[in-house]
This record gives sequence, structure tokens and C-alpha cells, in this order.
Amino acid sequence: MAAALEIKNLQAWYGESHILHDVNLTVAPGEVVTLLGRNGAGRTTTLRAIMGLTGTRKGSIKINGVEAIHLPTYKVAHLGVGYCPEERGIFASLSAEENLMLPPFVSKTDRGMSIDEIYEMFPNLEERRSSQGTRLSGGEQQMLAVARILRTGAKLLLLDEISEGLAPVIVQALARMITTLKAKGYTIVMVEQNFRFAAPLADRFYVMEHGQIVETFAASELGNKMPVLHSLLGV
Ligand SMILES: Nc1ncnc2c1ncn2[C@@H]1O[C@H](COP(=O)(O)OP(=O)(O)OP(=O)(O)O)[C@@H](O)[C@H]1O
Ligand SMILES: [Mg+2]
Repeated sequence: MAAALEIKNLQAWYGESHILHDVNLTVAPGEVVTLLGRNGAGRTTTLRAIMGLTGTRKGSIKINGVEAIHLPTYKVAHLGVGYCPEERGIFASLSAEENLMLPPFVSKTDRGMSIDEIYEMFPNLEERRSSQGTRLSGGEQQMLAVARILRTGAKLLLLDEISEGLAPVIVQALARMITTLKAKGYTIVMVEQNFRFAAPLADRFYVMEHGQIVETFAASELGNKMPVLHSLLGV
């Protein structure tokens, strides 16, 4: 079976700034992979490069075996990729439910989650279904942002710092959400600063520094890697 995501020698630029230098990263179908790194390491840029949202890209990005390096963003999405950016992008003037009704289906084969399935997974979104985007708490907005990409039928989820700035109880709810999505067969790439959140969820870890992958290891190696992580990330 083809990898859900196979990135080889990826380079990316923002204008003249060369940000990613030969990033190599592979994610198997159904895997949860976490991309760790200090501020400015290039983790967001990696997700944006996958989506075709940076400047020039070079190298190879295969999604389920299909080369995507030259595809525009909407075509990448149509390969079944859902990107949840750090800024979430909730429509403030629309209600929670209206936000959930907007996304198009991106996949011909995978149907997106129904509104009922979404509310089963996020009961507090159902309670808040009529509330305007701006009136939702940070945690509710984050759940809505993830729920919205689940509506599209995307099976490869790129999640940028979803736990950032949220209360511990919400972070726990997000951890349960990741576990549920993994059980449902989703493939997940999570960019995280919050190591404690990511550590118990991920099958494998990549560490970035200066636009390159400097470490990669499986969850089973986490114990042995703690000293390295401590020096790379200060965790
Ligand atoms: N739009 C942009 N134009 C030019 N340079 C950028 C742009 N966005 C990011 N950069 C630069 O690219 C590098 C990598 O940034 P990136 O956002 O990928 O980091 P990150 O690992 O996500 O860290 P964090 O989210 O903590 O800032 C940084 O040096 C940053 O200054
Ligand atoms: Mg970032």
C-alpha cells in the first residue's frame, strides 16, 4: 500500500527566503505522526508546503502515491487532505452549524462526516450550534475548525498546534478526539509545541530544526530519546 504521505527532498521558499532544506518524511495510512521543533523550525511551513501555500517548492510530495508537488491548493485538498491552520479560520459572522455546512466534499470515495456524527464526537458543538463564531470559546473554535475539515471527507489531516493556548480540560478533549480519529482510520500529522499532549498520541515523531528533519523515532523509543529531545526542544 502506498504511504498516505511521502515527502522526499522537499525544499520550500517564501520569496527569496529558503526555509525548507531537504525535508524527508513518510506517514503510513492510519498513522499519527507528530512534528516537533522550536519556534521557527519550519513545521508550519512544512504543512503549508504540502498544501501548496508557500512560494517555490522543489522535491516530491506524494499523497496516496500521487505526486502533488506541482498541484495548486484545491487539487491537493481533492486528494483527501484536510489542513487545519493555526489561525483556525472560523467564519466569525456565521453560527457554529453554518460553519459546518460550508465545506465542500473533497473526496469522491470518502464521504465527509455527517452533522450527526460531528455532534456525536463534539457534543459541546451541538450545544453551541446556533452561537456565532465569535462567541465560541477558543476550545470550541478549535473543535469547530477540526470538525469542519472532517466534513470534507479528508482522510489525511494536517493539524497545526491545535492544543495551543487552550485550557487543560480542552486539551484532554482534543487528545480523546485524536484517539477517536485514529481508531476511525484517519492519518494525522500534528505539529505540536505541547510535548505532553503529543507524546501519548503519536506513533512516530519527527524533530525539525532550521528547516530540516534532525531526528525521527517511534513511540517505543521515546524513553531513550528523552535526553536528545531535552537538548533539541528543552522538554
Ligand atoms: N510568510 C513568510 N514569509 C517569510 N518567511 C516566513 C514566512 N512564514 C514563516 N517564515 C519564516 O520561516 C521560518 C519557519 O517558520 P515556521 O512558521 O514554519 O516555523 P514553525 O516551526 O511553525 O514555528 P512557530 O509556529 O513556533 O513559529 C521562520 O524563520 C519564519 O520566520
Ligand atoms: Mg508554526
